[in-house]
Amino acid sequence: MSAKQAFGVIGLGVMGQNLALNIERNGYPVAGYDIDPAKVRASRERFAGRDMVVAGTLAEFLGQLALPRRILMVVPAGKPVDAVIDELRPGLARGDLLIDGGNSFFEETRRRIKALEGTGILYIGTGVSGGEEGALRGPSIMPGGNPEAWALVKPVFQKIAAKGPDGLPCCEWIGPDGAGHFVKMIHNGIEYADMQMIGEAFDLMERALGLTPAAMQVIFDDWNKGELDSYLIEITAKIMGQQDPETGRPLVHLILDTAEQKGTGKWASDVALDLGVPAQTIAVAVFARMMSALKAERVAASKVLRGPDARFEGDPASFVEMIRQALYASKICSYAQGFQLLRAADEEYGWRLPFGTVASLWRAGCIIRAQFLSKIHEAYQRNPALPNLLLDPYFAGAIHRTSPAWRKVVATAVEVGIPVPAFSSALAYYDSYRSAVLPANLLQAQRDFFGAHTYRRIDREGIQHTQWEN
Ligand code: 6PG
Repeated sequence: MSAKQAFGVIGLGVMGQNLALNIERNGYPVAGYDIDPAKVRASRERFAGRDMVVAGTLAEFLGQLALPRRILMVVPAGKPVDAVIDELRPGLARGDLLIDGGNSFFEETRRRIKALEGTGILYIGTGVSGGEEGALRGPSIMPGGNPEAWALVKPVFQKIAAKGPDGLPCCEWIGPDGAGHFVKMIHNGIEYADMQMIGEAFDLMERALGLTPAAMQVIFDDWNKGELDSYLIEITAKIMGQQDPETGRPLVHLILDTAEQKGTGKWASDVALDLGVPAQTIAVAVFARMMSALKAERVAASKVLRGPDARFEGDPASFVEMIRQALYASKICSYAQGFQLLRAADEEYGWRLPFGTVASLWRAGCIIRAQFLSKIHEAYQRNPALPNLLLDPYFAGAIHRTSPAWRKVVATAVEVGIPVPAFSSALAYYDSYRSAVLPANLLQAQRDFFGAHTYRRIDREGIQHTQWEN
């Protein structure tokens, strides 16, 4: 064991343990600490035989670390992060670096960075994605904060991170301030939309086509070999194949249809409203989870409210292919919205976000990893100032190719009464974005009519008001 450990990890839940093991495996001796003695015991057992120590007290932990200390906090977002910082601060020296590796809200990260200004203590708020497996084998890492801190973690983080198809690490400096956590929040918003869309595809195949999970397993596996190739499609195929050992039924049919959430998708939607970005597909994915949570009400309503009970009557195989295309087209729109959010934040906070790099960091390790991200990376390489992903020739072409099927799927869903909030909101986003004229002219007239809110004209400069005839 080395005299001083190179890296500290506070918070030894499974994520913290796995990140610690990953760091040590890559050549950096680790010191760990947790306030919970049970986690200390469990980590000591798990870390045995490695260049890892687990301290019994915070003071001991601080003494085990080489200077400047690099301390990664893997604790739940919110108050626990502030509590850990408060406890640590008296024991920290100038030049030490605190890293928040949890899903903190970026405004909190901004506040914490500000609070440490002038203390000489450096701070990074980093997105870490990939779940427990990713933490152990290679997550996608999105660090932001004090720029001078990057050199202290770059070698470690780039070593422990997942590697993209070109072998490059899925970790690069995102920017100052709360940029890292902002990017992670957008990752999660996109994750919510991806999951909702896959759910809609599943619902359509199940209810409109009557397909079994076993049949859908084959379909999702097949989709995973093409342009939808992604982790979420891959695990969906596996979920379709999972039987309940007790009943022998597909497990998915036994799972209560009430989605939970920890808030990151809501934050992304809140921020979309704050920044004035129409990220409706991301927001609708959050609302869809909220709707799912109204289980008792929905069950009651299902006995009262009527609608079509029809099945899709055409060729099932060609409808499955149309659903695949609808999913791809919708996905392009939700990513376009995610990147619009990044662009708006960039303007608001002046972070100079590297859009193409963000896409490349998401190519491996994270939950939304997908072949598709390479295409986004390429789009920003072609044009770093791309105003919207939809305007890139590759994505415009993909939408043009898939939109007839996409429209058919949304129209069919409406006809048979199956909700497709993400598919349809993405289509509305696309149709709105490509409309040179929207009915906001009427809306402006209404505002001026009832409240003299004024409007502008297309044929002359200046603020206008009309005495509307009642
Ligand atoms: C990741 C995930 C992760 C997130 C879960 C659960 O990138 O590894 O985004 O950070 O916590 O996806 O999120 P919800 O509980 O809100 O679904």
